[in-house]
Amino acid sequence: MITEVKLKEIYYSYQGMEHPIFDKLSLTVQRGEFVTLVGPSGCGKTTLLEIMAGLITDFSGGILLDGLKKLPLGNISLMPQEDLLLPWRTVLENGALPLEIKGEKKSAANQQVRELLREFGLEGFENYYPHQLSGGMRQRVAFLRSILTGHRVLLLDEPFSSLDALTRLKMQEWLITMWQKFQPTIIFITHDVEEAIFLGQSIYIFSMVPNSKLKHYQVPFVYPRNHSLLGNLDFVQLRQQILADMVWGGADE
Ligand SMILES: Nc1ncnc2c1ncn2[C@@H]1O[C@H](COP(=O)(O)OP(=O)(O)OP(=O)(O)O)[C@@H](O)[C@H]1O
Ligand SMILES: [Mg+2]
Repeated sequence: MITEVKLKEIYYSYQGMEHPIFDKLSLTVQRGEFVTLVGPSGCGKTTLLEIMAGLITDFSGGILLDGLKKLPLGNISLMPQEDLLLPWRTVLENGALPLEIKGEKKSAANQQVRELLREFGLEGFENYYPHQLSGGMRQRVAFLRSILTGHRVLLLDEPFSSLDALTRLKMQEWLITMWQKFQPTIIFITHDVEEAIFLGQSIYIFSMVPNSKLKHYQVPFVYPRNHSLLGNLDFVQLRQQILADMVWGGADE
C-alpha cells in the first residue's frame, strides 16, 4: 500500500487558548482509502483539516504527502463545512471553475462538466443558480468541483450535516459510488458515528482536547454498502464502542 497522507506528531494551539488542540497527534492515510474522522463539536476536526489543507501553517510536527514534504496547496482539495458555491455562477459555471483556474478554455471546461452532470444527479440543472438548488444538489455541485480539481486527496468537512435524514442517506450511498468510480483518497469529517461507520474503511475517533493518540478502527464491512447495514449487530456494537470512546477518551494507537 502507498501512504498518501502522513501526519507526524502534530502540535497546535490557537493563540490565547489554555490547552493545545493537538499534542503529538499522528495519523496515516493510504492512497485511495476512505477514512472518516468522528468527534464531538469543538474537538478540533475542522482545525485538523485546515492543517492538512495548508490553511493553517503555524503548527509543529510534520505532514508528508506521498512520503514527501510537498505543499498541501495544489495537492489536496478541501470541501468546507458550507458548500461555498459562487452565487452568481450557474451549476455549469461553478463546476467549471477549477478547470478555468487551471487555464482551460471555457468551452472545453464546460464540456467536461457536462459529461459529469448526469452522474452527479444534476442533469437538466446546468443553468440553475445555487439558490435554486436543494441542499443535496449544492453538495453534489461542490463535490463535482472537488473532483475536477484533479487532486487525489479530498477533505470533506461534514458535507451532509445540514441535509434532512432521507437525503443524507441517499447522499452517503451516492458518495460511496463516486468514491468507487473516481478512487480519490477521502478524509471525511463528521460528528455522526453511524455516518462514520457507514462510509469509512477506517475511523479515527476524537474525544476531548488536547487530542494526542486517536483511537483507530478498521471497519469490517464490504462495499458497496446500503443502509440495511445499520441494523447489523456488528454495526450496532461498533457504534456503541465508538460512542463510549468519544465520551471517555482512550487510545490504543
Ligand atoms: N480561529 C480560531 N481562533 C481561536 N480558536 C478557534 C479558532 N477556530 C476554532 N477555534 C477553537 O478551536 C476548537 C476546535 O474548533 P474546530 O472548529 O476545529 O472544531 P470542530 O471539531 O470542527 O467543531 P464542529 O463539529 O462544531 O465543526 C474550538 O474550541 C474552537 O473554539
Ligand atoms: Mg468543524
